[in-house]
Amino acid sequence: MLFFLDLLTLIKRIGLMKDIIEIIKNRHSVRDFLPDALPQEVLDDMIEAARLAPSAQNRQPWRYVIITEPDKIKELVKNTGLIGLANYFIKDAPCLVIACADEKKNLKLNQKDYYLVDVAISFHQMILAAWAHGVGSCWLAAFNEEKLARYLDLPKSYRIVAMSPFGYPKADKTLYSKALNVFSGSDRRLKREDIIRVVSSEL
Ligand SMILES: Cc1cc2nc3c(=O)[nH]c(=O)nc-3n(C[C@H](O)[C@H](O)[C@H](O)COP(=O)(O)O)c2cc1C
Repeated sequence: MLFFLDLLTLIKRIGLMKDIIEIIKNRHSVRDFLPDALPQEVLDDMIEAARLAPSAQNRQPWRYVIITEPDKIKELVKNTGLIGLANYFIKDAPCLVIACADEKKNLKLNQKDYYLVDVAISFHQMILAAWAHGVGSCWLAAFNEEKLARYLDLPKSYRIVAMSPFGYPKADKTLYSKALNVFSGSDRRLKREDIIRVVSSEL
């Protein structure tokens, strides 16, 4: 009986592993969104995935601002003037998440601040969880942190690490997002021999 249960767990795990690899392989940045709101269960899974991330000394420095009102998103884009032409596409997303770090929770080791690593792991878990539900996103780093923090009235100890729109992908692409594909895109990755220095004979 015990052996049978273990076998079941193993089969389930293999299934789960395949799902994760497929999600990672299929994910790509999305810059064109349908206006449909994200269902609550999708938002819940995204938040849970972000919450459960590992962090240096388990300090969990991530803090998220989640905006799900389209008018508020448009207002933010207009009033912060921070997005510029390049990231203007976020105005049409039904959800915007701003990934912050509370610097008070930062771990500094060997002159390195780990809040960036911690928030990146957590935010990407959120992005993958969203993708598992068919919801697209796009990491954004091009913004004016000072202006945005003031607009959102964030506590002084918060740093804004990144942000992303979230929404169901629209089939019709704008000229802008087509143009971006010229230099960005999941199909342009280094080869494995370019990223691995120490290779054991099995790899
Ligand atoms: C930290 C970070 C910052 C990024 N900033 C922007 C950005 O400001 N604007 C944008 O359109 N894409 C941005 N991207 C998306 C990248 O261009 C994209 O991930 C990369 O070209 C690979 O394409 P893929 O996400 O479709 O696999 C950013 C990605 C990362 C990880």
